Amino acid sequence: EYRNATAAELDLRIRAAKHALGDRLVILGHFYQRDEIVRYADFLGDSFQLAQAAKTKPNAEYIVFCGVHFMAETADILSRAEQAVILPNLAAGCSMADMAEIDSVTDCWEELASVLGTASDGSDKQPVLPVTYMNSAASLKAFCGEHGGVVCTSSNAETVLQWAFERGQRVLFFPDQHLGRNTAKKMGIPLEQMPVWDPNKPMGGLTPQQIRDARVILWHGFCSVHKRFTVDQISFARQRHPGVHVIVHPECTMEVVDAADEHGSTELIKKRVEAAPAGSIFAIGTEINMVQRLANEHPDKTIFCLDSIICPCSTMYRIHPSYLAWVLESLERGELLNRITVPEAIAAPARVALERMLALKP
Ligand code: 13P
Ligand code: SF4
Repeated sequence: EYRNATAAELDLRIRAAKHALGDRLVILGHFYQRDEIVRYADFLGDSFQLAQAAKTKPNAEYIVFCGVHFMAETADILSRAEQAVILPNLAAGCSMADMAEIDSVTDCWEELASVLGTASDGSDKQPVLPVTYMNSAASLKAFCGEHGGVVCTSSNAETVLQWAFERGQRVLFFPDQHLGRNTAKKMGIPLEQMPVWDPNKPMGGLTPQQIRDARVILWHGFCSVHKRFTVDQISFARQRHPGVHVIVHPECTMEVVDAADEHGSTELIKKRVEAAPAGSIFAIGTEINMVQRLANEHPDKTIFCLDSIICPCSTMYRIHPSYLAWVLESLERGELLNRITVPEAIAAPARVALERMLALKP
């Protein structure tokens, strides 16, 4: 029924359901959502802003989250128990988040302890402290909460790592090696002190000496969308558009981040474009739906994606208006579909790690 509906029909149905639900409903949306979804969002943001919004904004009974699974889990953890978080399509995951799962992180933790010990060796710091990127399952956030660690997003990674280094001699950073490497490098940590842990190899493929010498142990995860951006694309953009400002997301590789003029979260990218004078030229290394929207909203500026072959985040894209119409009309009938609930045994320690992050000044 929903699949065969036209865009115009779906629009009418979503608007009608939204109107009927009134203040009982709030729709949160990530910047990477397609325009046909963004238009219904009561609040649009990067993953940090959306976590804050889930905690502070809505009085609503229902939080419909147009984003990916880990974001909806975070919203459930931070919102009040009586609020229900709904993900319109349960297949909207994140391939990077799936690259670290709790069993292999726990194995890694134990192997690190076998080299480093668990006591602090006379130092007032832990031998290693876990930091997880927001793009991770709730169980990993819980792991961080239980082991003195914290969560970070692309907008606060440096502040969070600073906090972690005040408490740990080393950091185990997961799942995104690129965000970890780009941030630690910016903080002056040499590359030799950031080995990558490969969970498919014994002892992560590292020697005990590499582990002892490390400041940041990077999990081997990456984002397949941001991995597509290359230094050649940046050179090409500079040749074709002298004066172009190249801005990329820190999930890009180190080489790309180094070749860009600037890097930052989706919110930072948006702010830079908004603040630039008419006539500015931007080559952007992030998800295409967001770049295209910025280009449409700023016709007085030249804005394009670094990768000329369209590169959407295929899982963000799975939130289609037909799914939104389906969950909203079900809510109207009092039926809760696609609710995301994190069991309290996981939510409680995950909340500790999230609250540690939220308490830090960006
Ligand atoms: P932001 O935290 O910048 O919104 O990024 C989230 C994300 O998934 C980027 O790929
Ligand atoms: Fe995950 Fe990459 Fe999509 Fe972001 S863009 S949600 S990191 S797959």
